[in-house]
Amino acid sequence: MLEINDLTKTFANGTPALKGVNLKINKGEFVSILGRSGSGKTTLLRSINGLETASGGEIYLDNKQVNLETINEVQNKTGMIFQEFNLVNNLSAINNVLTGLLSSSNKFLSLFYLFSKDQKIDALKSLETVGLLEKSYNRSDELSGGQRQRVGIARAIIKKPLLLLADEPVASLDPKAADLILSLLKKINKEYGTTILCNLHQVDLAKKYSDRVVGLVDGKVIFNEKSNDIDKNYLEKIYA
Ligand SMILES: Nc1ncnc2c1ncn2[C@@H]1O[C@H](COP(=O)(O)OP(=O)(O)O)[C@@H](O)[C@H]1O
Ligand SMILES: [Mg+2]
Repeated sequence: MLEINDLTKTFANGTPALKGVNLKINKGEFVSILGRSGSGKTTLLRSINGLETASGGEIYLDNKQVNLETINEVQNKTGMIFQEFNLVNNLSAINNVLTGLLSSSNKFLSLFYLFSKDQKIDALKSLETVGLLEKSYNRSDELSGGQRQRVGIARAIIKKPLLLLADEPVASLDPKAADLILSLLKKINKEYGTTILCNLHQVDLAKKYSDRVVGLVDGKVIFNEKSNDIDKNYLEKIYA
């Protein structure tokens, strides 16, 4: 469902962030990307949903090439989850989830009165999926970090995306909350067949929750293995 061929990205200031990435992900897989800070993990995810324009190579999502012409379609098929949650603090959880229905061009307009009853019901269902229905009308800044990230997940799944992109979704959380967030992503993966691509720092979490682990070093994939096969030798390639 996702195919990346020889993807390169060099930023305008000359920094080469991706140096020829090849990666295939099947529908329904849960894949983690492990790599040090600066290895290109965020750039890779942002390229997949069109937030960054690649310098070279191709990305196909659901058999369609990702480019300027398909960007709206691509963004409708993908949901993104962020390390710092990226919620609007003074909005309720449900209104934050509803922003997941806005396209990036009108995201910052206050159009909440325009959401239909059905859309509000969908938002409540998303909050129920992440176990946060009873906090639907709390302001997001009243919630704990783990709860905020659950709102972030509810926002990402309201459009029922084929692919969820999670950029270090647990890096700001304590170990218990981190485990809960990953088990929630796993539940969404299993119940809805949503494909998941997740950037992580923690090897143990990557092995516990993913089907496959990809190692990224300096903008290149240096391994791509079933999570059961990941051992010290592979990790040394990343963290040596
Ligand atoms: N907007 C940008 N402009 C210039 N360089 C960038 C930009 N974003 C990231 N980089 C550089 O690209 C490389 C990869 O960054 P990033 O994808 O954020 O890595 P990671 O998410 O693995 O920490 C780093 O060297 C980083 O400094
Ligand atoms: Mg990053």
